[in-house]
Amino acid sequence: MEGLFITFEGTEGSGKSTQIHILTNRLLEMGREVMALREPGGTAIGEEIRHTLKHSASNAAMFPETELLLMNASRSQLVHEVIRPALCKGRIVVCDRFFDSTIAYQGYGREMDVQLIERLTEFVVGSTIPNLTLLLRVPLEVSESRRLTRLNSQPVAQRDRLEEEDRSFFERVERGYDAIAAAGGTRVRSIDATQAVEPVAAEVWRWVEPLLKVRPEQGERAFKTIGEYRNEAPG
Ligand code: TMP
Repeated sequence: MEGLFITFEGTEGSGKSTQIHILTNRLLEMGREVMALREPGGTAIGEEIRHTLKHSASNAAMFPETELLLMNASRSQLVHEVIRPALCKGRIVVCDRFFDSTIAYQGYGREMDVQLIERLTEFVVGSTIPNLTLLLRVPLEVSESRRLTRLNSQPVAQRDRLEEEDRSFFERVERGYDAIAAAGGTRVRSIDATQAVEPVAAEVWRWVEPLLKVRPEQGERAFKTIGEYRNEAPG
C-alpha cells in the first residue's frame, strides 16, 4: 500500500474533530487527495451500526460482546470498502478512531480480554495498520466536563449510550490509552491536548510532515513492483 494512513485517538472532548478538520484542510491546500473518515461509521453500513451502538432506542440492552463485535463489523466494512482502496490509490486517509479505541474502550473500559481483541483486530484489519496514530491527551476532569456538557445539551432522542457511562469506565479507558502510548512504539505519538488549538495543530503537523516527504506526489508510486526490479536485474 502506497498511501498514508493516519488515525486520531483520545477520549471524549479531546479535540479530535477540530484537529482532523485543520489537518485535512492543510493537506487539501497542498493539493493532496485526502479522505476523512470516522469510526464507528464511515460507510453506509458502518453508519447504521454507529446508530445502533450510540443512539438507537433499544441499545441499553446491548451486551459488551455485542458491542465489541459491532465495532469490528463497522471496521471491517470500512477497511474493505474505503481504506484499502484509497491507500492503494496513494491517497491520505485520516480516521477519527480505529482499533486503539477498541483496546481502550472495550478492552480496558469494559474489561474484556485484550489478547482476544488483538486477535479479532488482526482478523479484521490484517495489514491495514496506521502509519501514524496521534493520541490527544486531556485529563479525565477536562474530558468529563466536556462530555457532561454535551450530554446535558442533547435532546433525549439523540442520547449517546457510550457517553452515558460513569466516571470509573472513563478512568479505565484512560488507563487503556496509557498502555497504548507505552506499547505503541513510533506509531503512536501522544500530544498534550490541554494546550490551545494552534499549538496542538502545530504538534500534529510536526509528526505528519516528515511522512509526506518520504511519499511521492499523487499519481506516482513509492516502490517499484517486483516485475520492475526483475526487468532491471542484470542478465
Ligand atoms: P465519537 O465518534 O463521538 O468519538 O463516538 C464514538 C464512540 O464509540 C466513543 O464513545 C468511543 C466509542 N468507541 C468504542 O467504544 N470502541 C471503538 O472501537 C470505537 C471505534 C469507538
